Amino acid sequence: MKYAQYLVAAATAVAAVPSPGADGRYTIQAPGIRAQFIPYAATLTNLFVKDKNGIERDIVLGYDNTSFYPVDPGHPVYNAVPGRYANRIGNGTFTLDNVTYNLVKNDGPNTLHSGPNNWSYRVWNVTDVTNSSISFHLSDPSNSTGMPGRVEVSVTYSLEPNKWNIEINATSPEHRTPIQATQHTYFQLDAFANPSNNRTIWNHTLHLPYAKRAMIADQNALPTGVIANISKNGIDDFWTAPHKLDFASNHSDFENHCGTGCHGYNGNLAFDNDRPKGAVVATLASAWSGIKADLRTNQDAIVIYTCNWNDGKTEFKSTQGIAGQDKFIPRDGCIAIEAQDYVDAVNHPEWGREKKQIFGPGDKYHWQSSWTFGTLDS
Ligand SMILES: *[C@@H]1O[C@H](CO)[C@@H](O)[C@H](O)[C@H]1NC(C)=O
Ligand SMILES: *[C@@H]1O[C@H](CO)[C@@H](O)[C@H](O)[C@H]1NC(C)=O
Ligand SMILES: *[C@@H]1O[C@H](CO)[C@@H](O)[C@H](O)[C@H]1NC(C)=O
Ligand SMILES: *[C@@H]1O[C@H](CO)[C@@H](O)[C@H](O)[C@H]1NC(C)=O
Ligand SMILES: *[C@@H]1O[C@H](CO)[C@@H](O)[C@H](O)[C@H]1NC(C)=O
Ligand SMILES: *[C@@H]1O[C@H](CO)[C@@H](O)[C@H](O)[C@H]1NC(C)=O
Ligand SMILES: *[C@@H]1O[C@H](CO)[C@@H](O)[C@H](O)[C@H]1NC(C)=O
Ligand SMILES: *[C@@H]1O[C@H](CO)[C@@H](O)[C@H](O)[C@H]1NC(C)=O
Ligand SMILES: *[C@@H]1O[C@H](CO)[C@@H](O)[C@H](O)[C@H]1NC(C)=O
Ligand SMILES: *[C@@H]1O[C@H](CO)[C@@H](O)[C@H](O)[C@H]1NC(C)=O
Ligand SMILES: *[C@@H]1O[C@H](CO)[C@@H](O)[C@H](O)[C@H]1NC(C)=O
Ligand SMILES: *[C@@H]1O[C@H](CO)[C@@H](O)[C@H](O)[C@H]1NC(C)=O
Repeated sequence: MKYAQYLVAAATAVAAVPSPGADGRYTIQAPGIRAQFIPYAATLTNLFVKDKNGIERDIVLGYDNTSFYPVDPGHPVYNAVPGRYANRIGNGTFTLDNVTYNLVKNDGPNTLHSGPNNWSYRVWNVTDVTNSSISFHLSDPSNSTGMPGRVEVSVTYSLEPNKWNIEINATSPEHRTPIQATQHTYFQLDAFANPSNNRTIWNHTLHLPYAKRAMIADQNALPTGVIANISKNGIDDFWTAPHKLDFASNHSDFENHCGTGCHGYNGNLAFDNDRPKGAVVATLASAWSGIKADLRTNQDAIVIYTCNWNDGKTEFKSTQGIAGQDKFIPRDGCIAIEAQDYVDAVNHPEWGREKKQIFGPGDKYHWQSSWTFGTLDS
């Protein structure tokens, strides 16, 4: 190829790569699925799939205004990548290789999603975009979260027909440090458009066929260290069969099940270690839209949170709801599903999770999940 031809080819290739819209959203797509992202927190802002009638629904939470994400005082970590250690660290402290590290406590007595300079408050670099994929990278300096050593992390989101793939890779080239990532995805499979609905999540069904054990948690949703078997029809039983999210709402302990004043779910369940590789570990579905979502992951546990702390004052997006109605998200209006490892295992050496959570020079952290979308009758 002559140089002039090369320039034309290169310019054409660049033109074919999606650039962000005026509001900063990057759009990628594949048959049956379309997704939008912003560099702030490597966030998924919109995820469109077809419902049982072929109508496109935006099934994740988020804001119309992309400038609001960084200033939102609630910071619900909407479909973002929190880190370097997702979820709670008890008492905001842990000891690694005989050194005790103290973190900023931002969730009662505990640290949630790593405190200051956490990954979900930072603008990631976009490193690659195609029509069906986007990659982000973040360099997390030593001690930015009170944890030792620099961490380099990248996330690649890619679409295939009806499928969203997520891959998170990280290294800690200088020092051993805890790493625990997740994609903190909030779903509402009816996109708040169910006309007979009070907009709660309770009619969605969840099936977690391999989640037979639960981390018992204290009043601040921090695991105590006890891992209990989940009994059939017990409050956390999503393994014996798909259950509606309110199936246990009449249990006396449903009310404070996820901490004081928190009803429903905000807990960590462990998958069977002998589950088949590549198995579907979670299926979320809604009979109204007919949409069902299957999660596969290389992670050994999951956090489910049924949005108890929504205060009813935040609005959903204009891509959701019913025209002419208000847009307020009620308490219990969504579910966050976060594949990850055991919460606060850095304070529970008896769980033996060190190889899954502590990474240093030469080690590779590799988190991988996918969501496959379909409809209940398919
Ligand atoms: C990406 O999409 C654009 C617009 O639909 C199209 O023109 C272009 O050929 C696509 N590029 C690739 C590599 O498929
Ligand atoms: C978007 O949010 C930013 C930050 O809160 C605010 O300054 C701006 O006015 C908002 N824009 C719209 C159109 O609401
Ligand atoms: C946190 O501190 C309390 C009181 O000092 C103690 O009982 C508890 O074991 C500590 N928890 C962790 C996870 O370190
Ligand atoms: C931690 O301290 C113990 C007891 O002093 C010592 O045996 C061990 O080698 C130390 N470990 C590291 C990684 O420094
Ligand atoms: C995360 O870091 C930001 C920026 O340093 C800080 O404002 C925020 O409070 C931190 N978030 C949490 C949940 O600690
Ligand atoms: C983005 O890349 C620039 C240039 O390499 C670098 O200076 C900056 O620290 C990076 N930002 C993040 C969040 O990693
Ligand atoms: C690490 O960060 C913490 C909290 O941000 C701070 O208190 C501490 O002084 C820092 N340590 C070092 C060695 O810079
Ligand atoms: C992430 O790591 C895995 C396993 O080491 C590797 O196969 C994959 O190519 C990496 N992906 C990216 C985007 O770097
Ligand atoms: C929830 O499901 C029940 C049947 O289990 C049905 O009677 C009810 O109408 C549904 N509610 C909504 C809001 O879809
Ligand atoms: C909202 O609807 C769900 C599902 O039908 C039901 O479980 C819940 O009790 C209702 N809540 C209110 C406040 O009406
Ligand atoms: C939990 O179930 C496993 C497998 O069924 C069993 O081996 C174990 O003893 C049970 N643990 C408790 C505390 O009941
Ligand atoms: C809870 O109990 C009430 C009263 O017995 C009953 O009407 C309701 O259907 C029950 N809800 C569920 C989810 O089982």
